[in-house]
Amino acid sequence: MIYAANFKTNHTRETTREYLTKLQLQLFKKNPNDKVYVFPPLTALDDYQSNDVTIGVQNAYPVKNGAFTGEVGLEQLAEFNINTILIGHSERRDILGESQEFIAKKFDFFKEQGFEIIYCIGESLEIREQGLDAVMEHLVSQFEGIDTTYDNFVVAYEPIWAIGTGRTASVEEITQTHNALKKVVDKPLLYGGSVKGSNIKEIAEIENVDGVLVGGASLKTDTFLELVLHS
Ligand code: PGA
Repeated sequence: MIYAANFKTNHTRETTREYLTKLQLQLFKKNPNDKVYVFPPLTALDDYQSNDVTIGVQNAYPVKNGAFTGEVGLEQLAEFNINTILIGHSERRDILGESQEFIAKKFDFFKEQGFEIIYCIGESLEIREQGLDAVMEHLVSQFEGIDTTYDNFVVAYEPIWAIGTGRTASVEEITQTHNALKKVVDKPLLYGGSVKGSNIKEIAEIENVDGVLVGGASLKTDTFLELVLHS
């Protein structure tokens, strides 16, 4: 299983360091095959040393350096030895207005650099209410321009209506969607959307769920550890 903590716009460098120190002390208990990722905000990057946790970024601009006011490129990430990135999160698509075309450009750039890419897809409630075929049509459209055969590629399925809402997709919805997605992209497949201590067991048991991408419940070390150490 993969356990990925997406801090979004939460935590500072100081609290990220405290978080990672506390997390590290408990990770000897995890299943040795499980992988743990933390995606802090860009300003919280530092020289964290850990064999048990991979630090990635929530976003970056597809450029080495240059004139892109307010953005961070490869040169800045390299200073912190970052080679893992989230691409396509619904908050970037919907709030920050990233188009599929731009997302594909970003994907290509970081693929060229050999980054591990956790690529997020997900549908709105309106689409979910139209049934699985409509959901799949939408999800497949989010692979447009994306090389799904890329080796260092993990997919995160996150229904938008389940993100930060406390409303998780049902076991049946996750099972059906993940089974259908595996036929399209044969890569590790994470589920995300209100994953927490009370539902991790049933979600982790679903056959084609290879891990979870967690926002709210990842913000405190204790609640994230509840997920990582649930078994
Ligand atoms: P959530 O966020 O766990 O708070 O629903 C998940 C995500 O957006 O990655």
